[in-house]
Amino acid sequence: MKGENENTPKRELFTSKFGFIISCIGAAVGLGNIWMFSYRLGTYGGAAFLIPYFLFVFLLGTTGLIIEFSFGRSHRAGSLVGIQRVFKSHNLRGAKIAGFIPVLGLTGILIFYSVVIGWILKYFYMSITGDLFHQDYVELFNSFSGSTEAIPWTLLAVLITLIIVLSGVAKGIEKLNKIAIPVLMFIFLLMIVRSLTLEGSMKGVEYLLKPKWSALMNIETWIMALGQAFFTVSLTGCALVVYGSYANDKSELVSASFNTALYDSIAALMAAFMIIPAVFAFGLDPAAGPSLLFITLPKVFELMPYGHILSILFFLSIIFASITSSVSMLEGPVESVISTTRIKRKKATIVIALLAALLTIPIAIDNSLFEKFTDFITIILSPIGAMVLAFVAVFLYSDKLLAEINKSRTKPIGLWFITYAKIVFVPVTVLIIILGIIFGGIG
Ligand code: TRP
Repeated sequence: MKGENENTPKRELFTSKFGFIISCIGAAVGLGNIWMFSYRLGTYGGAAFLIPYFLFVFLLGTTGLIIEFSFGRSHRAGSLVGIQRVFKSHNLRGAKIAGFIPVLGLTGILIFYSVVIGWILKYFYMSITGDLFHQDYVELFNSFSGSTEAIPWTLLAVLITLIIVLSGVAKGIEKLNKIAIPVLMFIFLLMIVRSLTLEGSMKGVEYLLKPKWSALMNIETWIMALGQAFFTVSLTGCALVVYGSYANDKSELVSASFNTALYDSIAALMAAFMIIPAVFAFGLDPAAGPSLLFITLPKVFELMPYGHILSILFFLSIIFASITSSVSMLEGPVESVISTTRIKRKKATIVIALLAALLTIPIAIDNSLFEKFTDFITIILSPIGAMVLAFVAVFLYSDKLLAEINKSRTKPIGLWFITYAKIVFVPVTVLIIILGIIFGGIG
Protein backbone atom coordinates (compact mmCIF):
# COMPACT_ATOMS: atom_id res chain seq x y z
CA MET A 1 0.00 0.00 0.00
CA LYS A 2 2.15 2.80 -1.20
CA GLY A 3 1.03 6.30 -0.43
CA GLU A 4 -1.73 5.05 1.81
CA ASN A 5 -1.09 7.51 4.61
CA GLU A 6 -0.36 10.59 2.68
CA ASN A 7 -2.84 12.99 1.21
CA THR A 8 -1.79 13.12 -2.39
CA PRO A 9 -1.08 16.82 -2.77
CA LYS A 10 -2.01 16.96 -6.42
CA ARG A 11 -5.45 15.44 -6.00
CA GLU A 12 -7.71 16.89 -8.64
CA LEU A 13 -10.95 18.46 -7.39
CA PHE A 14 -14.21 19.58 -8.93
CA THR A 15 -13.79 23.22 -9.87
CA SER A 16 -16.91 24.50 -8.08
CA LYS A 17 -19.79 23.55 -5.81
CA PHE A 18 -22.01 23.46 -8.86
CA GLY A 19 -19.61 21.17 -10.69
CA PHE A 20 -19.67 18.78 -7.75
CA ILE A 21 -23.45 18.75 -7.36
CA ILE A 22 -24.23 18.39 -11.04
CA SER A 23 -21.77 15.49 -11.29
CA CYS A 24 -23.54 13.78 -8.39
CA ILE A 25 -26.90 14.37 -10.05
CA GLY A 26 -25.42 12.86 -13.21
CA ALA A 27 -24.33 9.79 -11.30
CA ALA A 28 -27.73 9.46 -9.67
CA VAL A 29 -29.90 9.96 -12.75
CA GLY A 30 -29.71 6.73 -14.67
CA LEU A 31 -31.72 3.84 -15.99
CA GLY A 32 -33.42 3.37 -12.62
CA ASN A 33 -35.11 6.74 -13.09
CA ILE A 34 -36.26 5.86 -16.55
CA TRP A 35 -37.31 2.27 -16.67
CA MET A 36 -38.05 1.53 -13.02
CA PHE A 37 -39.53 4.60 -11.38
CA SER A 38 -42.46 5.16 -13.75
CA TYR A 39 -43.44 1.51 -13.58
CA ARG A 40 -43.36 1.44 -9.81
CA LEU A 41 -45.20 4.73 -9.56
CA GLY A 42 -48.01 3.33 -11.69
CA THR A 43 -48.05 -0.15 -10.18
CA TYR A 44 -47.72 0.69 -6.51
CA GLY A 45 -50.47 3.18 -5.97
CA GLY A 46 -49.87 6.17 -8.29
CA ALA A 47 -49.47 9.39 -6.32
CA ALA A 48 -49.78 7.33 -3.13
CA PHE A 49 -46.42 5.72 -3.96
CA LEU A 50 -44.80 9.14 -3.74
CA ILE A 51 -45.36 9.17 0.01
CA PRO A 52 -43.10 6.21 0.88
CA TYR A 53 -40.77 7.15 -1.98
CA PHE A 54 -40.11 10.71 -0.82
CA LEU A 55 -40.06 9.64 2.81
CA PHE A 56 -37.30 7.14 2.09
CA VAL A 57 -35.38 9.31 -0.35
CA PHE A 58 -35.24 12.24 2.05
CA LEU A 59 -34.87 10.35 5.32
CA LEU A 60 -32.59 7.54 4.16
CA GLY A 61 -31.22 8.35 0.69
CA THR A 62 -29.89 11.74 1.75
CA THR A 63 -28.47 10.27 4.94
CA GLY A 64 -26.53 7.77 2.85
CA LEU A 65 -25.32 10.54 0.56
CA ILE A 66 -24.18 12.70 3.47
CA ILE A 67 -22.25 9.74 4.88
CA GLU A 68 -20.62 8.82 1.55
CA PHE A 69 -19.70 12.41 0.63
CA SER A 70 -18.24 13.24 4.03
CA PHE A 71 -16.32 9.98 4.34
CA GLY A 72 -14.72 10.61 0.96
CA ARG A 73 -13.90 14.25 1.55
CA SER A 74 -12.59 13.63 5.04
CA HIS A 75 -10.08 11.12 3.69
CA ARG A 76 -9.53 12.89 0.41
CA ALA A 77 -9.65 9.35 -0.89
CA GLY A 78 -12.12 6.76 -2.09
CA SER A 79 -13.60 3.96 -0.04
CA LEU A 80 -10.72 1.52 -0.53
CA VAL A 81 -8.13 3.77 1.09
CA GLY A 82 -10.60 5.30 3.54
CA ILE A 83 -11.86 1.98 4.89
CA GLN A 84 -8.35 0.58 5.15
CA ARG A 85 -7.16 3.58 7.12
CA VAL A 86 -10.04 3.31 9.55
CA PHE A 87 -9.44 -0.41 10.03
CA LYS A 88 -5.78 0.22 10.63
CA SER A 89 -6.40 2.91 13.21
CA HIS A 90 -8.60 0.45 15.12
CA ASN A 91 -6.16 -2.41 14.63
CA LEU A 92 -8.87 -4.39 12.92
CA ARG A 93 -8.33 -7.29 10.57
CA GLY A 94 -10.01 -7.73 7.21
CA ALA A 95 -9.24 -4.21 5.98
CA LYS A 96 -8.48 -5.43 2.48
CA ILE A 97 -11.69 -7.36 2.05
CA ALA A 98 -13.83 -4.62 3.55
CA GLY A 99 -12.14 -2.00 1.40
CA PHE A 100 -12.47 -3.96 -1.81
CA ILE A 101 -16.15 -4.90 -1.56
CA PRO A 102 -17.56 -1.46 -2.50
CA VAL A 103 -15.07 -1.11 -5.36
CA LEU A 104 -15.88 -4.56 -6.71
CA GLY A 105 -19.62 -3.94 -6.42
CA LEU A 106 -19.29 -0.72 -8.38
CA THR A 107 -17.11 -2.35 -11.03
CA GLY A 108 -19.81 -5.00 -11.37
CA ILE A 109 -22.40 -2.31 -11.99
CA LEU A 110 -20.11 -0.77 -14.62
CA ILE A 111 -19.94 -4.10 -16.42
CA PHE A 112 -23.65 -4.79 -16.81
CA TYR A 113 -24.49 -1.11 -17.28
CA SER A 114 -22.09 -1.01 -20.23
CA VAL A 115 -24.02 -3.81 -21.89
CA VAL A 116 -27.25 -1.83 -21.55
CA ILE A 117 -25.60 1.38 -22.78
CA GLY A 118 -24.48 -0.67 -25.78
CA TRP A 119 -28.11 -1.52 -26.55
CA ILE A 120 -29.05 2.15 -26.19
CA LEU A 121 -26.24 3.21 -28.55
CA LYS A 122 -27.46 0.72 -31.13
CA TYR A 123 -31.03 2.01 -30.88
CA PHE A 124 -29.80 5.58 -31.11
CA TYR A 125 -27.90 4.70 -34.26
CA MET A 126 -30.88 2.85 -35.71
CA SER A 127 -33.19 5.77 -35.03
CA ILE A 128 -30.81 8.04 -36.91
CA THR A 129 -30.69 5.75 -39.94
CA GLY A 130 -34.43 5.10 -39.63
CA ASP A 131 -33.88 1.32 -39.57
CA LEU A 132 -35.45 1.12 -36.16
CA PHE A 133 -39.01 1.49 -37.33
CA HIS A 134 -41.68 -0.74 -38.86
CA GLN A 135 -40.62 -4.06 -37.57
CA ASP A 136 -41.31 -6.62 -34.88
CA TYR A 137 -39.62 -5.03 -31.88
CA VAL A 138 -39.73 -8.14 -29.73
CA GLU A 139 -37.91 -10.02 -32.44
CA LEU A 140 -35.47 -7.15 -33.01
CA PHE A 141 -34.49 -6.91 -29.36
CA ASN A 142 -34.31 -10.64 -28.74
CA SER A 143 -32.19 -11.35 -31.77
CA PHE A 144 -29.77 -8.56 -30.98
CA SER A 145 -29.35 -8.62 -27.20
CA GLY A 146 -27.49 -11.67 -26.00
CA SER A 147 -25.84 -12.19 -29.38
CA THR A 148 -22.38 -11.42 -30.70
CA GLU A 149 -23.93 -8.45 -32.50
CA ALA A 150 -24.09 -6.71 -29.13
CA ILE A 151 -20.32 -6.86 -28.58
CA PRO A 152 -19.14 -3.88 -30.64
CA TRP A 153 -21.84 -1.67 -29.10
CA THR A 154 -20.89 -2.73 -25.58
CA LEU A 155 -17.25 -2.00 -26.32
CA LEU A 156 -18.21 1.38 -27.73
CA ALA A 157 -20.01 2.13 -24.46
CA VAL A 158 -16.88 1.29 -22.48
CA LEU A 159 -14.76 3.34 -24.89
CA ILE A 160 -16.88 6.47 -24.48
CA THR A 161 -16.76 6.11 -20.69
CA LEU A 162 -13.00 5.56 -20.88
CA ILE A 163 -12.38 8.70 -22.93
CA ILE A 164 -14.22 10.87 -20.41
CA VAL A 165 -12.53 9.38 -17.35
CA LEU A 166 -9.14 9.67 -19.09
CA SER A 167 -9.69 13.41 -19.32
CA GLY A 168 -9.85 13.68 -15.55
CA VAL A 169 -12.21 14.93 -12.88
CA ALA A 170 -12.62 18.55 -14.00
CA LYS A 171 -11.98 18.32 -17.72
CA GLY A 172 -13.71 14.98 -18.18
CA ILE A 173 -16.37 14.13 -15.63
CA GLU A 174 -17.40 17.61 -14.54
CA LYS A 175 -17.44 19.02 -18.04
CA LEU A 176 -19.52 16.13 -19.36
CA ASN A 177 -22.10 16.58 -16.61
CA LYS A 178 -22.29 20.34 -17.07
CA ILE A 179 -23.27 19.77 -20.68
CA ALA A 180 -25.18 16.49 -20.56
CA ILE A 181 -27.49 17.13 -17.60
CA PRO A 182 -28.96 20.46 -18.83
CA VAL A 183 -29.37 19.01 -22.33
CA LEU A 184 -31.05 15.95 -20.85
CA MET A 185 -33.45 18.12 -18.86
CA PHE A 186 -34.27 20.15 -21.96
CA ILE A 187 -34.98 17.04 -24.02
CA PHE A 188 -37.11 15.61 -21.22
CA LEU A 189 -39.16 18.84 -21.12
CA LEU A 190 -39.66 18.82 -24.84
CA MET A 191 -40.75 15.20 -24.77
CA ILE A 192 -43.15 15.82 -21.88
CA VAL A 193 -44.91 18.49 -23.93
CA ARG A 194 -45.11 16.12 -26.90
CA SER A 195 -46.33 13.27 -24.78
CA LEU A 196 -48.99 15.25 -22.91
CA THR A 197 -50.39 16.76 -26.09
CA LEU A 198 -51.09 13.38 -27.66
CA GLU A 199 -54.71 12.38 -27.76
CA GLY A 200 -55.48 9.88 -25.05
CA SER A 201 -52.42 10.74 -23.00
CA MET A 202 -54.50 11.66 -19.97
CA LYS A 203 -55.10 7.99 -19.29
CA GLY A 204 -51.37 7.76 -18.69
CA VAL A 205 -51.42 10.74 -16.38
CA GLU A 206 -54.21 9.08 -14.47
CA TYR A 207 -52.21 5.85 -14.27
CA LEU A 208 -49.29 7.77 -12.80
CA LEU A 209 -51.12 10.05 -10.45
CA LYS A 210 -54.50 8.73 -9.44
CA PRO A 211 -53.80 7.81 -5.84
CA LYS A 212 -54.73 4.30 -4.85
CA TRP A 213 -54.40 4.66 -1.15
CA SER A 214 -54.95 0.97 -0.55
CA ALA A 215 -51.48 0.39 -2.04
CA LEU A 216 -50.07 1.86 1.15
CA MET A 217 -51.52 -1.08 3.03
CA ASN A 218 -49.45 -3.39 0.88
CA ILE A 219 -46.03 -3.96 2.40
CA GLU A 220 -44.55 -4.52 -1.06
CA THR A 221 -45.25 -0.86 -1.92
CA TRP A 222 -43.03 0.22 0.96
CA ILE A 223 -40.33 -2.29 0.13
CA MET A 224 -40.14 -1.25 -3.52
CA ALA A 225 -40.07 2.41 -2.51
CA LEU A 226 -37.19 1.64 -0.15
CA GLY A 227 -35.22 -0.20 -2.82
CA GLN A 228 -35.90 2.58 -5.31
CA ALA A 229 -34.77 5.24 -2.83
CA PHE A 230 -31.40 3.55 -2.34
CA PHE A 231 -30.70 2.58 -5.93
CA THR A 232 -31.78 5.85 -7.46
CA VAL A 233 -29.34 8.00 -5.49
CA SER A 234 -26.54 5.53 -6.28
CA LEU A 235 -25.60 4.36 -2.80
CA THR A 236 -22.95 1.73 -3.36
CA GLY A 237 -20.31 2.82 -0.90
CA CYS A 238 -17.91 3.81 -3.63
CA ALA A 239 -18.92 6.10 -6.51
CA LEU A 240 -20.20 8.96 -4.40
CA VAL A 241 -17.47 8.51 -1.81
CA VAL A 242 -15.02 9.18 -4.62
CA TYR A 243 -17.03 12.17 -5.89
CA GLY A 244 -17.18 13.48 -2.30
CA SER A 245 -13.40 13.16 -2.10
CA TYR A 246 -13.17 15.59 -5.05
CA ALA A 247 -15.52 18.16 -3.47
CA ASN A 248 -13.81 21.35 -2.39
CA ASP A 249 -13.98 22.38 1.24
CA LYS A 250 -16.55 25.06 0.52
CA SER A 251 -19.11 22.54 -0.66
CA GLU A 252 -21.83 22.09 1.95
CA LEU A 253 -22.38 18.36 1.96
CA VAL A 254 -25.84 18.30 3.54
CA SER A 255 -27.37 20.59 0.96
CA ALA A 256 -25.40 18.81 -1.79
CA SER A 257 -27.09 15.59 -0.65
CA PHE A 258 -30.55 17.13 -0.65
CA ASN A 259 -30.00 18.65 -4.05
CA THR A 260 -28.77 15.38 -5.50
CA ALA A 261 -31.81 13.53 -4.15
CA LEU A 262 -34.20 16.29 -5.19
CA TYR A 263 -33.03 16.68 -8.78
CA ASP A 264 -32.73 12.94 -9.15
CA SER A 265 -36.37 12.60 -8.10
CA ILE A 266 -37.40 15.43 -10.41
CA ALA A 267 -35.68 13.65 -13.28
CA ALA A 268 -37.51 10.43 -12.39
CA LEU A 269 -40.87 12.21 -12.35
CA MET A 270 -40.08 13.95 -15.63
CA ALA A 271 -39.13 10.64 -17.22
CA ALA A 272 -42.41 9.17 -16.06
CA PHE A 273 -44.40 12.02 -17.60
CA MET A 274 -42.56 11.86 -20.88
CA ILE A 275 -42.90 8.11 -21.29
CA ILE A 276 -46.14 6.86 -19.75
CA PRO A 277 -48.69 9.28 -21.26
CA ALA A 278 -47.33 8.49 -24.73
CA VAL A 279 -47.47 4.76 -24.05
CA PHE A 280 -51.14 5.06 -23.03
CA ALA A 281 -51.98 7.36 -25.93
CA PHE A 282 -51.20 4.52 -28.31
CA GLY A 283 -52.96 1.91 -26.23
CA LEU A 284 -49.77 0.10 -25.25
CA ASP A 285 -48.97 -1.43 -21.89
CA PRO A 286 -46.49 0.27 -19.63
CA ALA A 287 -43.62 -2.06 -18.89
CA ALA A 288 -40.57 -2.05 -16.66
CA GLY A 289 -36.95 -2.64 -17.51
CA PRO A 290 -35.48 -3.29 -20.95
CA SER A 291 -38.80 -4.09 -22.59
CA LEU A 292 -40.01 -0.54 -21.94
CA LEU A 293 -37.03 1.07 -23.68
CA PHE A 294 -36.39 -1.45 -26.41
CA ILE A 295 -39.81 -2.89 -27.25
CA THR A 296 -42.60 -0.56 -26.14
CA LEU A 297 -41.02 2.80 -26.92
CA PRO A 298 -39.86 2.10 -30.50
CA LYS A 299 -43.52 1.30 -31.23
CA VAL A 300 -44.57 4.57 -29.59
CA PHE A 301 -42.12 6.52 -31.75
CA GLU A 302 -43.26 4.67 -34.85
CA LEU A 303 -46.83 5.78 -34.25
CA MET A 304 -46.13 9.30 -33.03
CA PRO A 305 -46.09 12.35 -35.31
CA TYR A 306 -42.42 13.42 -35.68
CA GLY A 307 -41.55 10.16 -33.95
CA HIS A 308 -38.39 9.66 -35.99
CA ILE A 309 -36.66 12.84 -34.83
CA LEU A 310 -38.07 12.51 -31.33
CA SER A 311 -36.67 9.02 -30.97
CA ILE A 312 -33.20 10.33 -31.88
CA LEU A 313 -33.53 12.97 -29.16
CA PHE A 314 -34.96 10.47 -26.72
CA PHE A 315 -32.20 7.90 -27.09
CA LEU A 316 -29.64 10.71 -26.94
CA SER A 317 -31.04 11.79 -23.59
CA ILE A 318 -30.90 8.20 -22.35
CA ILE A 319 -27.28 7.99 -23.49
CA PHE A 320 -26.58 11.11 -21.43
CA ALA A 321 -28.40 9.72 -18.41
CA SER A 322 -26.44 6.50 -18.52
CA ILE A 323 -22.97 7.78 -19.51
CA THR A 324 -23.01 10.36 -16.70
CA SER A 325 -23.60 7.36 -14.42
CA SER A 326 -21.09 5.02 -16.04
CA VAL A 327 -18.25 7.54 -15.70
CA SER A 328 -18.76 7.47 -11.94
CA MET A 329 -18.71 3.67 -12.06
CA LEU A 330 -15.36 3.68 -13.85
CA GLU A 331 -13.96 6.52 -11.75
CA GLY A 332 -14.46 4.45 -8.57
CA PRO A 333 -12.05 1.63 -9.42
CA VAL A 334 -9.71 4.01 -11.26
CA GLU A 335 -9.39 6.17 -8.16
CA SER A 336 -8.65 3.07 -6.08
CA VAL A 337 -5.76 2.16 -8.36
CA ILE A 338 -4.38 5.70 -8.52
CA SER A 339 -4.50 6.20 -4.76
CA THR A 340 -2.96 2.88 -3.78
CA THR A 341 -0.26 2.47 -6.43
CA ARG A 342 2.09 4.67 -8.37
CA ILE A 343 0.09 4.12 -11.51
CA LYS A 344 -1.13 7.35 -13.10
CA ARG A 345 -4.67 8.15 -14.23
CA LYS A 346 -4.08 7.39 -17.90
CA LYS A 347 -2.70 3.94 -17.38
CA ALA A 348 -5.11 3.10 -14.56
CA THR A 349 -8.12 4.09 -16.64
CA ILE A 350 -6.99 2.08 -19.64
CA VAL A 351 -6.21 -0.99 -17.57
CA ILE A 352 -9.53 -0.97 -15.67
CA ALA A 353 -11.54 -0.19 -18.78
CA LEU A 354 -9.84 -2.99 -20.70
CA LEU A 355 -10.55 -5.40 -17.89
CA ALA A 356 -14.17 -4.28 -17.71
CA ALA A 357 -14.46 -4.52 -21.50
CA LEU A 358 -13.21 -8.11 -21.42
CA LEU A 359 -15.69 -9.03 -18.72
CA THR A 360 -18.61 -7.41 -20.54
CA ILE A 361 -18.22 -9.77 -23.50
CA PRO A 362 -19.52 -13.02 -21.94
CA ILE A 363 -22.33 -11.04 -20.34
CA ALA A 364 -23.23 -9.22 -23.53
CA ILE A 365 -23.63 -12.43 -25.53
CA ASP A 366 -25.57 -14.48 -23.00
CA ASN A 367 -28.84 -13.11 -21.64
CA SER A 368 -29.18 -15.61 -18.84
CA LEU A 369 -25.65 -14.90 -17.67
CA PHE A 370 -26.45 -11.19 -17.92
CA GLU A 371 -29.42 -11.68 -15.64
CA LYS A 372 -27.54 -13.80 -13.10
CA PHE A 373 -24.63 -11.39 -12.99
CA THR A 374 -26.87 -8.32 -12.67
CA ASP A 375 -28.84 -9.96 -9.86
CA PHE A 376 -25.70 -10.90 -7.98
CA ILE A 377 -24.32 -7.38 -8.22
CA THR A 378 -27.51 -5.44 -7.50
CA ILE A 379 -28.95 -7.77 -4.85
CA ILE A 380 -25.80 -8.92 -3.05
CA LEU A 381 -22.45 -7.33 -3.74
CA SER A 382 -23.27 -3.69 -4.19
CA PRO A 383 -25.76 -3.41 -1.27
CA ILE A 384 -23.13 -5.09 0.92
CA GLY A 385 -20.65 -2.45 -0.27
CA ALA A 386 -23.07 0.31 0.71
CA MET A 387 -23.61 -1.32 4.10
CA VAL A 388 -19.89 -1.81 4.80
CA LEU A 389 -19.13 1.81 4.01
CA ALA A 390 -22.01 3.12 6.13
CA PHE A 391 -21.04 0.85 9.02
CA VAL A 392 -17.38 1.84 8.95
CA ALA A 393 -18.16 5.55 8.60
CA VAL A 394 -20.78 5.70 11.31
CA PHE A 395 -19.48 3.24 13.90
CA LEU A 396 -15.72 3.53 13.51
CA TYR A 397 -15.22 7.05 12.23
CA SER A 398 -18.09 9.06 13.71
CA ASP A 399 -16.21 12.02 15.26
CA LYS A 400 -14.28 12.86 12.14
CA LEU A 401 -17.31 12.22 9.97
CA LEU A 402 -19.40 14.72 11.91
CA ALA A 403 -16.58 17.25 11.87
CA GLU A 404 -16.35 16.87 8.10
CA ILE A 405 -20.10 17.28 7.65
CA ASN A 406 -20.01 20.45 9.75
CA LYS A 407 -16.90 21.89 8.12
CA SER A 408 -18.76 24.22 5.82
CA ARG A 409 -21.94 24.63 7.82
CA THR A 410 -22.88 27.72 9.77
CA LYS A 411 -25.39 25.71 11.82
CA PRO A 412 -23.60 22.55 12.80
CA ILE A 413 -25.45 19.26 12.84
CA GLY A 414 -25.58 17.63 16.25
CA LEU A 415 -24.57 14.22 17.44
CA TRP A 416 -28.15 13.09 16.86
CA PHE A 417 -27.23 12.55 13.22
CA ILE A 418 -24.68 9.89 14.11
CA THR A 419 -27.07 8.27 16.58
CA TYR A 420 -29.80 8.24 13.94
CA ALA A 421 -27.41 6.78 11.39
CA LYS A 422 -26.36 4.09 13.86
CA ILE A 423 -29.78 2.95 14.94
CA VAL A 424 -31.76 3.58 11.78
CA PHE A 425 -29.67 3.99 8.65
CA VAL A 426 -27.14 1.19 9.08
CA PRO A 427 -29.78 -1.38 10.13
CA VAL A 428 -31.82 -0.38 7.07
CA THR A 429 -28.83 -1.11 4.82
CA VAL A 430 -28.84 -4.62 6.30
CA LEU A 431 -32.60 -4.90 5.84
CA ILE A 432 -32.22 -3.95 2.18
CA ILE A 433 -29.91 -6.88 1.57
CA ILE A 434 -32.31 -9.29 3.28
CA LEU A 435 -35.35 -7.94 1.45
CA GLY A 436 -33.48 -7.97 -1.85
CA ILE A 437 -32.73 -11.66 -1.40
CA ILE A 438 -36.32 -12.46 -0.41
CA PHE A 439 -37.90 -10.48 -3.26
CA GLY A 440 -35.25 -11.25 -5.86
CA GLY A 441 -34.21 -7.63 -6.13
CA ILE A 442 -35.80 -4.39 -4.97
CA GLY A 443 -33.28 -1.83 -6.24
N1 TRP B 1 -28.72 5.54 -9.71
C1 TRP B 1 -28.50 4.82 -10.91
C2 TRP B 1 -29.81 4.69 -11.66
O1 TRP B 1 -30.83 5.18 -11.23
C3 TRP B 1 -27.94 3.46 -10.70
C4 TRP B 1 -26.79 3.30 -9.80
C5 TRP B 1 -26.75 2.51 -8.71
C6 TRP B 1 -25.52 3.91 -9.90
N2 TRP B 1 -25.54 2.59 -8.13
C7 TRP B 1 -24.75 3.42 -8.83
C8 TRP B 1 -24.98 4.82 -10.78
C9 TRP B 1 -23.47 3.87 -8.62
C10 TRP B 1 -23.68 5.28 -10.56
C11 TRP B 1 -22.93 4.80 -9.51
O2 TRP B 1 -29.84 4.08 -12.68
